[in-house]
Amino acid sequence: MDKKKIAGEKAAEYVKDGMVVGLGTGSTAFHLVNAIGERVKNGLKIQAIPTSKATEAQARELGIPLLTIDEVDHVDLDIDGVDEIDPQFNAIKGGGGALYREKVVATLAKEVIWIMDDSKLVEHIGDFSLPVEIAQYGSKQAMAKMEEYGLHPVQRMRDGKPFVTDNGNYIVDLQVGAGFDIEGTREKLAGIVGVLEHGLFLNMCKRMIVGTDEGVKITENPGK
Ligand code: A5P
Repeated sequence: MDKKKIAGEKAAEYVKDGMVVGLGTGSTAFHLVNAIGERVKNGLKIQAIPTSKATEAQARELGIPLLTIDEVDHVDLDIDGVDEIDPQFNAIKGGGGALYREKVVATLAKEVIWIMDDSKLVEHIGDFSLPVEIAQYGSKQAMAKMEEYGLHPVQRMRDGKPFVTDNGNYIVDLQVGAGFDIEGTREKLAGIVGVLEHGLFLNMCKRMIVGTDEGVKITENPGK
């Protein structure tokens, strides 16, 4: 059973006519976008805002009507993947490097659904390194500050060169470790010049849809 696929397909059922929908990024969101594309072919009327150039290309190919971010005044439902999530619905995202656009869209959304396979469920987030998007200019100095704060930054590389995001910035992966001080880390990052955004998505979702060997499990967030 493809656990990411069943989670993505289940989440697509929450999309209703007339909605503005945030389309996530990554291998789980890939299945979501395919399933929404199928529904659009069968008459579903929505407008969507993609969270990366990759998702935009996929959605365009499938004929899903798209908005640019400047055309968006609200998002009814955002559906996206996560890298890790704890029982308090605190998630780390950005493994694919799309965290900034993902956070812009999730923050605009009236309702957020996270989709994943069950390998993403953890007791304490932080073993998955925490991605941070930083400006290229001054990146050495920003990373030095992170090092000074004990955040152990590692510049993300691709094909021997620094990874560059859809926004033209770098990604730094912080080796924070499970059980790290979430609030303290947020505060430290907020004070570093050149940090655009980080991959902490804290208690944002209304529900998580998890693909398991036994099928899809849906957990509602009582706080939302
Ligand atoms: C993209 O930057 C990420 O936030 C993804 O949403 C996250 O990495 C989950 O990806 P997968 O669904 O591919 O595991």
